[in-house]
Amino acid sequence: MKTIWIVSGGAEAIPGIIRAKELGLHVVVSDGNESAPGFEYADDSVVASTYDIDATVQAAYDYSHNNRKIDGVISIASDVPVTVAAVAHELGLPGISVETARLACDKLAMKQRFAENSIPIPWFSEIESLKQLQDIIDKRGYPLIIKPVDSRGARGVLRLLEQHDLAWAYNYSKSYSPMGRVMVEEYLSGIQVSTEALIVNGQGFTSGFSDRNYEYLDRFSPYIIENGGHQPSVLAENDQLELADTAVKAGLAMGIQNGVAKGDMVMTADGPKVIEIAARLSGGWFCTDQIPLGTGVDLVGSAIKLALGEDLDTSLLKPQWRKGVAIRYFFPPTGKIKSIENTELFTQCPWVYKIGFFVKPGDEILTVTDHTKRAGYVITTGDTRDEAIDRAQEVISAVRIVTI
Ligand SMILES: Nc1ncnc2c1ncn2[C@@H]1O[C@H](COP(=O)(O)OP(=O)(O)O)[C@@H](O)[C@H]1O
Ligand SMILES: [Mg+2]
Repeated sequence: MKTIWIVSGGAEAIPGIIRAKELGLHVVVSDGNESAPGFEYADDSVVASTYDIDATVQAAYDYSHNNRKIDGVISIASDVPVTVAAVAHELGLPGISVETARLACDKLAMKQRFAENSIPIPWFSEIESLKQLQDIIDKRGYPLIIKPVDSRGARGVLRLLEQHDLAWAYNYSKSYSPMGRVMVEEYLSGIQVSTEALIVNGQGFTSGFSDRNYEYLDRFSPYIIENGGHQPSVLAENDQLELADTAVKAGLAMGIQNGVAKGDMVMTADGPKVIEIAARLSGGWFCTDQIPLGTGVDLVGSAIKLALGEDLDTSLLKPQWRKGVAIRYFFPPTGKIKSIENTELFTQCPWVYKIGFFVKPGDEILTVTDHTKRAGYVITTGDTRDEAIDRAQEVISAVRIVTI
């Protein structure tokens, strides 16, 4: 029996942990949270923070010497590619290099790599002072994106318009960067898409393709808050192929020869452009649930096999169908939560696939500034994209998170 080490035992990793068990693997899960919900589904659990590279490498090394040989390492729904790559490197397991994983966590180095490889990207520049930001705005005008070089979950990402205070924006964005570094980018208009591909021996197979919903760009301005996504995409087949191909080329340029390339992409008037590529499986129930629902592809199962260095039947990565799937989020008014009402209306509903809350009565709802401030979500299915979206919206309007 082979052993897979899964870095991340959060709720969103659970379907992947279960999938690994179904594949007949011995499953070890590591997480910094002693009561990580994923531990319950694992054969062995190890307490080591997913962000603590040294602690996870040490724990995996000790485990492989004292318990069982480890055959592969992966993360599920957790943005820790360097931790995973470092374990793979230490134990001689398949996977991407630490250098590639580091590129995925440094938006500036990643964009430089893309530029060197003629991957289509927005204009960008590092910003080292407020004066430099002002000069760029004088030259290029608005809107402009400012973001931390090394954060995630849209933390510190702002869409700057004329009315915003630049000094505030610069310091705000910088405050979210562990390295204290920020960058600006041209704002790309167009349909935003999430792609998720496995690259197998240098060849890309894109199973995940979902349009992202940015209806609240004005409501939450200058913060950029995604209100879910939906499949199948509204884009024409040719545009989808071109966009997926660009994301895979970007992944290859980063050095991903065997692994996941998850793209934040925009279909602009000048064709597809890359915002960023993550070298890991997605969160938000995308890889574990939304992709299988929408396409019939067991992406996580294949990613696990790839992490074990097994031969993959890549025909299984081709979508078998295109069904309607939508995810939308709850954005209740700020204040203290009194109650969450009307969820019982949907408990028997066959098209509500999953509904969940990140908050409970007594918690405080804060101003929405990034994706960690969303209050909950619903995932719905339908025969078509529009049916799934309408159903998600019905749930979002009917379920009330009452705040005082
Ligand atoms: N240059 C850009 N043009 C348009 N939208 C952008 C741009 N950069 C970022 N965004 C929006 O902000 C979101 C978060 O930015 P991103 O660079 O992906 O950081 P994070 O690591 O926090 O996901 C993106 O998913 C996208 O919707
Ligand atoms: Mg992103």
